[in-house]
Amino acid sequence: MKFRSFGRDQIVVSEVGLGCWQIGSDAWGPVSDEAATGILEKALEQGISFYDTADVYGAGRSESFVGEFLKKHQSARDSLFIASKVGRSAKIYPDGYTRTNITESIEGSLQRLGIEALDLVQTHCAPPEILQDGEIFEWLQDLVKAGKIKRFGASVESDAEALLCMQHPDIYSIQIIFNVLRQKSLSEVFPLAQEKNVAIIVRLPLNSGLLSGKFSKDTQFDKQDHRNFNRDGQHFNVGETFGGLPYEKGLELVEDLRGLFPTDVPMAQSSLRWCLDQSAVSVIIPGASSEEQVVANVVASEMDSFSEQKLKELADFYHGEVHSHIRGVY
Ligand SMILES: NC(=O)c1ccc[n+]([C@@H]2O[C@H](COP(=O)([O-])OP(=O)(O)OC[C@H]3O[C@@H](n4cnc5c(N)ncnc54)[C@H](OP(=O)(O)O)[C@@H]3O)[C@@H](O)[C@H]2O)c1
Repeated sequence: MKFRSFGRDQIVVSEVGLGCWQIGSDAWGPVSDEAATGILEKALEQGISFYDTADVYGAGRSESFVGEFLKKHQSARDSLFIASKVGRSAKIYPDGYTRTNITESIEGSLQRLGIEALDLVQTHCAPPEILQDGEIFEWLQDLVKAGKIKRFGASVESDAEALLCMQHPDIYSIQIIFNVLRQKSLSEVFPLAQEKNVAIIVRLPLNSGLLSGKFSKDTQFDKQDHRNFNRDGQHFNVGETFGGLPYEKGLELVEDLRGLFPTDVPMAQSSLRWCLDQSAVSVIIPGASSEEQVVANVVASEMDSFSEQKLKELADFYHGEVHSHIRGVY
């Protein structure tokens, strides 16, 4: 596993992290208690030091598993980086953004995680007017002063929101949807982040698993899986599901992409490698529903980078074939 610098505090984290939405088990197929524990243990064994969770994943289930995991590995705590999020609980979203609600929510996260201070708290897809208003960042700054959180960042839906948040001098990180089928952030967001030394956390690096190349038009997703119930953005931003691509179109594009990727490497690994080849990226956080996926995903860190020529071919493919099909705020 290779490590990268993560933002202005001269922290280093594993360049492949773990997305912990799956172990919440509320918006994916069911993940048993045993599987959730196994995924976290495997991640540690494979050298993953960065864990991204949220108060709302499984209504606290994800944070509770991370908390158990931290308790078991107390001696490793200083080498692990725990990022959580605030702002999508029923009490807060969409119009309960108050200092008290935010503070209480973070205290709940600390309790479930069993730690005194979070390494990073991210606003969790807060409405644009909340980001524009900016008061939430003052509350978070006060929580830094109070020792409850070490730093704060924003997990956003669109490039415009990322650019807005980066105007705030204390924003430490931006989390954004980015992958070979969703390359827009390369144009403005990533250069500005590099200029300001804002860490970039890449979510959906596999476009909700589409980039594994394992799905077909006959694939059945569980009833509780967002790839079933939010396929066209019925419940939350369509971009969070298959990166905003209509499923059938996504399948076609993945077949085209298969022809551009090396034939002797699993598509998931090539897709993750492509993300790591973008110099502004601090960490990618593929989600995993099994230990095997964790093991497969860390391989991307040790793979050779794509050539300049191949990166150009993949950029041309995105601009020519993919971009116009992406739905939702972007
Ligand atoms: N608003 C926000 O802030 C927000 C929103 C979304 C996600 N996130 C964070 O970002 C993380 C990553 O995003 P994501 O989980 O939505 O999307 P993702 O990482 O693009 O896709 C994860 C899915 O890809 C499949 N997968 C993973 N590794 C694989 C492998 N090696 N081979 C084959 N399939 C593989 C699995 O699907 P199966 O389970 O079907 O096998 C897994 O559930 C989340 O876990 C969460 O921490 C944050």
